[in-house]
Amino acid sequence: MTDTGLIAKYNIPGPRYTSYPTVPYWNKQQWDPGKWCEFLALSQQEEPVKLLALYIHLPYCDSLCTFCGCHKHITTNHAVESRYIDAVLTEWKLLAASLDKHSSIQELHLGGGTPTFFAPEELKRLIAGIKSVFPFTGSAALSFEAHPNSTTRKHLEVLHEQGFRRVSFGIQDYDPVVQKAIHRMQSFELVESCHKQAKEVGFTAISHDLVYGLPKQTLSGFQHAIRCTLQLKPDRISLYSYAHVPWIKGTGQRGYSESDLPDPDLKREIYEVSRQMLVTNGYVEIGMDHFALPGDSLAKAAGEKQLHRNFMGYTTKSSGLLIGLGMSAISECKSGFAQNEKSTARYLELVESGLLPVTRGHEMSAPDMEIRQHILNLMCRFETEIPEDTLLNRLELELQLSELISDGLVEWEQNTIRILPKGIPFVRNCCMAFDAYLKDLNPVKQFSMTI
Ligand SMILES: C[S@@+](CC[C@H](N)C(=O)[O-])C[C@H]1O[C@@H](n2cnc3c(N)ncnc32)[C@H](O)[C@@H]1O
Ligand code: SF4
Repeated sequence: MTDTGLIAKYNIPGPRYTSYPTVPYWNKQQWDPGKWCEFLALSQQEEPVKLLALYIHLPYCDSLCTFCGCHKHITTNHAVESRYIDAVLTEWKLLAASLDKHSSIQELHLGGGTPTFFAPEELKRLIAGIKSVFPFTGSAALSFEAHPNSTTRKHLEVLHEQGFRRVSFGIQDYDPVVQKAIHRMQSFELVESCHKQAKEVGFTAISHDLVYGLPKQTLSGFQHAIRCTLQLKPDRISLYSYAHVPWIKGTGQRGYSESDLPDPDLKREIYEVSRQMLVTNGYVEIGMDHFALPGDSLAKAAGEKQLHRNFMGYTTKSSGLLIGLGMSAISECKSGFAQNEKSTARYLELVESGLLPVTRGHEMSAPDMEIRQHILNLMCRFETEIPEDTLLNRLELELQLSELISDGLVEWEQNTIRILPKGIPFVRNCCMAFDAYLKDLNPVKQFSMTI
């Protein structure tokens, strides 16, 4: 089948699998925070070493980018900063009571929204408060998301002093026509200046986020964006497929119409040409949507089949426990997931009343745990082993994979299911074959398109 035929066949709505089960299929619409704390305590009892991954969601942004699918809160009132940091630190202390007192933090990521919306001094206070409860391990990986329009040298210096060595800059595209459509104007010169400052200050892993499939995007325009990116040579590049999810309230994806989006063939071509340019210029493709220079720790981990994935994306560290703090943040332990309240006002109210802001979640079944592992394996290493004592129905799985196998995208050899090079763009479709929940809800209304 031609590439165009494959795209037409497999470009369907589907999850990005930062978790399994994916959020719309979680079974606890009202998650009791007390029960969640029991889960946390139990998962720590089972772990010999108490290493935590911590994600802190900092939701505020000064201006709305109309393509954005993140949980954010737009305001120009910076007086909100200190109340929010106080709430996150209160939440951390409330949660810490359920964690082993010998815990330490091996990974910390500040995401958003826009962490650089906050003043450097507030971010310093946040990190000091986090450290006052549990220490960081000696090799802890600390990272943050930075919007070039609000990142100052002071931000970079203060966070570097606190132990941060990784920063990811939101770029998206350099084409002014696209930037206007998504309401996000930022020049190459500005990005260049932030990037150079981060290097001077001592950041050793700089990442750039690009998005293909945005409104008004053209092949030549995006090739220009890739050339600009190559000029700065970031250690890592996230090349995200634009997730068009206008039905999710508050995403702000309203500043353009469907007809402004590149059609699926052009979108795929933009990805393939960009991928080729990156690989030709020395980048290694790791997992889905990600590239890194060969010396980067993520590329090394991928080469050694040691890549992991959680809500924060790909990581080199495997941690049994991910704690999410802040509005909408998600936590994960062996037996389940929990998500915090998604309204900033309600999040603040709950925490300020001394309550954990957990509102929904999922309790894992034994088949959920097996499927979660297979999906992780496929996303991180493009293959997975089906054990002899699998809880999955082999015949059903064979049926679900049969088209991908006959189209030459996947092979099933003895107990190994492997995504072939031609099948890599269709990794989400392969994961969907394992997903036991997709049959129950209409995926069209839940997810962006897979290609
Ligand atoms: C929280 S934002 C980054 C931090 C900062 N707010 C900024 O915009 O620079 C994280 C990244 O998610 C990606 N992103 C946001 N909305 C998206 C969408 N609808 N589809 C694909 N990627 C998206 C963008 O690449 C963005 O840089
Ligand atoms: S892309 Fe970043 S700055 Fe823009 S609205 Fe989303 S989170 Fe905020």
